[in-house]
Amino acid sequence: MFKKLIRNSCNSIFLKQTTISLTNDIPSAELLERKLQDLPELGLYLHIPFCRRICPYCPYNKELYDPETASAYASAMVREMDFYAGLIRSKPITSLYIGGGTPTTMLNNGLREIVGHLRRAFNLQCHIHLESHPNDISAENLAVIKSLGVRYLSLGVEALQDHHLETLERPYTVAQAQKAVRLAVDAGFHCVNVDVMFDLPGQTENEVEKTGHALVEMGVDQIAAYPLFRFPYARMGGGSQNVNFSLSTILKRRRMLAILERIFYRAGYERSSVWAFTRTGIPKYCSVTVPLYVGLGASGGTYLKDIFYLNTFSVREYIGAISRKNTAIALSLNLTEPMQMAGWLYWRIYETQFTKNDFARRFGFDFDRVYGTQMKILTRMGMLNDDGEQIVLTDRGNYWLHAFEDLFSIDYISELWGTSKQDPWPEAVVL
Ligand SMILES: C[S@@+](CC[C@H](N)C(=O)[O-])C[C@H]1O[C@@H](n2cnc3c(N)ncnc32)[C@H](O)[C@@H]1O
Ligand code: SF4
Repeated sequence: MFKKLIRNSCNSIFLKQTTISLTNDIPSAELLERKLQDLPELGLYLHIPFCRRICPYCPYNKELYDPETASAYASAMVREMDFYAGLIRSKPITSLYIGGGTPTTMLNNGLREIVGHLRRAFNLQCHIHLESHPNDISAENLAVIKSLGVRYLSLGVEALQDHHLETLERPYTVAQAQKAVRLAVDAGFHCVNVDVMFDLPGQTENEVEKTGHALVEMGVDQIAAYPLFRFPYARMGGGSQNVNFSLSTILKRRRMLAILERIFYRAGYERSSVWAFTRTGIPKYCSVTVPLYVGLGASGGTYLKDIFYLNTFSVREYIGAISRKNTAIALSLNLTEPMQMAGWLYWRIYETQFTKNDFARRFGFDFDRVYGTQMKILTRMGMLNDDGEQIVLTDRGNYWLHAFEDLFSIDYISELWGTSKQDPWPEAVVL
């Protein structure tokens, strides 16, 4: 109730409306071509929705890996790439992320074809960032991953205590995860990221501390440490996601993150996003880095300045729709200018710093004229430093502003993804 009140007030202030409605009013190919041709550069996101086991806490769109479905999925992706390549033509692709699910399930069954086709169809001017799972990391698989041109690799390790791995139903031991990380670190990528989660059921601050030290000792380039969020539609949903917003949870997570911050800063890592710490001088592993991108695959999302749209979440429906009409868009949203600006600010806060010039270049307005009052209040509260041109979040701001953003994002994701998982072609979703 209280949460809803805050959300409605913020929506009124920032978006100038109280609700957001995605509908099945699908943009035409001509409209997409015009929007794509209007952009100087573009990011690509590829979603691989397969995993060998389904983790009980996971909110992402995924299903159990099946070789036949994965082959059909690879062929559908190739077709979807051709559709977009015809619209994008030679515009440079400056950021490319392959995520999931677990993309490495398709390492020897479709991923090579997908990446090969990407290179032929698009003007790729960037390295590939790829998500993987500790069980998919062996010397042979790393050689295949590198031969695909992947230079940025992430492993979902999640925990470094066997009893937590068991609770999370992760199918490996700490020793096996450590071996996978060492192999990846020694393989010569530009950046190896390891995902871990904290605030696990029954986890102590001492365990968080040991995890932080162990990650540094393993020599990983980047650590992404997320609190375990509860999504109502996941098995480990905790009955309701309200646990994410109780004051005691928020304070406990702040203490745990502060432990990790201390360890990582002392070891020479810098904060590279709200939850990620990258070794100084190493280029960061991250999802799509340019603000505008096209998402391919089931549940792939596309953002092109004033429109956001999502593909169907159902793998079967995606494959069927692509074979009939080359696209599988299920829901779209036209973004007003206040929505675009608020979205821009949301992501810059996530990245922890930004320049006011970027905003002016993107929107043609002076940043301080639009958000000056809010930034002044946040500066006084010690959440950020504003040198007149650049805004950098403090550690306090990183945590509290993000906890605040979660008031929106976790509920929005739960509603949008939850509905899209149940209904492959919803008429509308109102957030
Ligand atoms: C797509 S998965 C990573 C690749 C691979 N599927 C795996 O699990 O190893 C992305 C990451 O999101 C994080 N994640 C997943 N569910 C989460 C949740 N409920 N709360 C916080 N982080 C979560 C995990 O750290 C996970 O590694
Ligand atoms: S956490 Fe990773 S492996 Fe587990 S279900 Fe989600 S995407 Fe799959």
